[in-house]
Amino acid sequence: MFGKAGKAAAIAAIAALALTACGRSDTGTTGSSSGGEAFPKDSAIGVALPKKTSENWVLAEKLFNDGLTSAGFKPTVQFANNGVAEQQNQISAMISKGAKVIIVGALDGSQLGTQLQQAKDAGATIIAYDRLLLNTANVDYYVAYDNFKVGVLQGQALLDGMKAKKPSGPYNIELLAGSPDDANAKVFFDGAMSVLKPKIDDGTLKVLSGQTSFEKAVTQDWKAENAQRRMDTLLTGSYGTAPLDGVLSPNDTLARAVITSVKAAGKPLPVITGQDSEELSVKSILAGEQYSTINKDTRKLVEHAIVMVKDLQAGKKPEINDDKSYNNTVKTVPAFLLPPVIVTKDNVKTAYVDDPVLGPLTK
Ligand code: BGC
Repeated sequence: MFGKAGKAAAIAAIAALALTACGRSDTGTTGSSSGGEAFPKDSAIGVALPKKTSENWVLAEKLFNDGLTSAGFKPTVQFANNGVAEQQNQISAMISKGAKVIIVGALDGSQLGTQLQQAKDAGATIIAYDRLLLNTANVDYYVAYDNFKVGVLQGQALLDGMKAKKPSGPYNIELLAGSPDDANAKVFFDGAMSVLKPKIDDGTLKVLSGQTSFEKAVTQDWKAENAQRRMDTLLTGSYGTAPLDGVLSPNDTLARAVITSVKAAGKPLPVITGQDSEELSVKSILAGEQYSTINKDTRKLVEHAIVMVKDLQAGKKPEINDDKSYNNTVKTVPAFLLPPVIVTKDNVKTAYVDDPVLGPLTK
C-alpha cells in the first residue's frame, strides 16, 4: 500500500511547511492544470471522523467546526463511534446535503468504496484526512503527517533511548501496533520496522515473545485495555526474570497502558515510544517515564485541510508536495504531507512553544 516515503518527501514537506508558515502564495497550485469548478462560499462541507480513540481526533472536530464556519462554509462534522456502518451513513447524508467537499478520516479506509463512488457521482471532491482511503479511485487528495516517517522516528527513538541507558545490546524489546482497521497502523509499524528489523536480524534486538509480525502486534480499536492485556500476557509469558529494555508503542494512549502493565508486574520501566503529544504523556516524559512522543500538531493539519477546501471553492487546484508515496492500491494519491517531530525529555521544553496547552505545561 505504501511506496516509500523517502527522505526527499520529508524534506519537501519541511520546505512546504516553512513556506506556509511565511504565508502562502496567491496561486497555491502545483503544476499547470487548473482546479475544478468554483462553488459558492457558503457551501456545505462534510467532515467524517473515526472514533474518539485519541485526543487529536477530538481536537480536530472542534477545529474543523470553527475553521470552516469562520471561512463561511456550512460544516457537518461527525464521529463514527458506533462503527463502519455509521460512518457510511454519515457520508451518504453529507452527499444528500449537497456537500461540495467531503473530508474523511476513515474508521476503516477500505470500507467506504460505495459511498465515495456516490460522492464522486454527485460532484464532490474527496480529501482523505490523516488516514488514507484504500482500494478506491475516488479520493482526490490526501492531507496528513508523513506516517511512515512517524514510524521511522519511533523506531530510531527506541534504539537511542535504550542505548542511552545501556551502551550495548543485546536489548530485549516488544512490539505494539495500532488498530488493524486503521490504514495508518501498518504504515507506522512498517516505518518503525524499517529501522528495527535489521537490528532484530543481526541479534542486537531480541523479541522474547517471538511476536514480530504486524498481525501479532495489533491493538484492536487502539484501546488501552487491549494493549494492557497483551502486555500483561507478554510479561508473564516471556519476562519472568529477563529484563525488558524497550517497547515500541505506536501512540501515547497505548504507551501509558504499557507503563501501567509494567508497573503492575513490578518491573523497571523500559524505554517506551508514543505519538500524539497527549497531555498525560507529555507530563510522563517530563517525569522520566514515557521516553518519547511525536509532535503532529492537529491545528496545522486541520488548517491545511481547510486551505485545500478554500482552494477548491475558488476553483484552484490545491497545493500538493508529494505525488509518489501514498499508493492506495488503485492510485497514488496526491498528498500534502507535514513533517512529524520526535519529542523526548531532551527537547520537550522547546518542542511546544507554539502550543496553547502544551507550551505553558512544558515551560
Ligand atoms: C492517528 C494517530 C492516532 C491513532 C489513534 C491514527 O490514525 O494518525 O495519531 O494515535 O489514529 O487514534
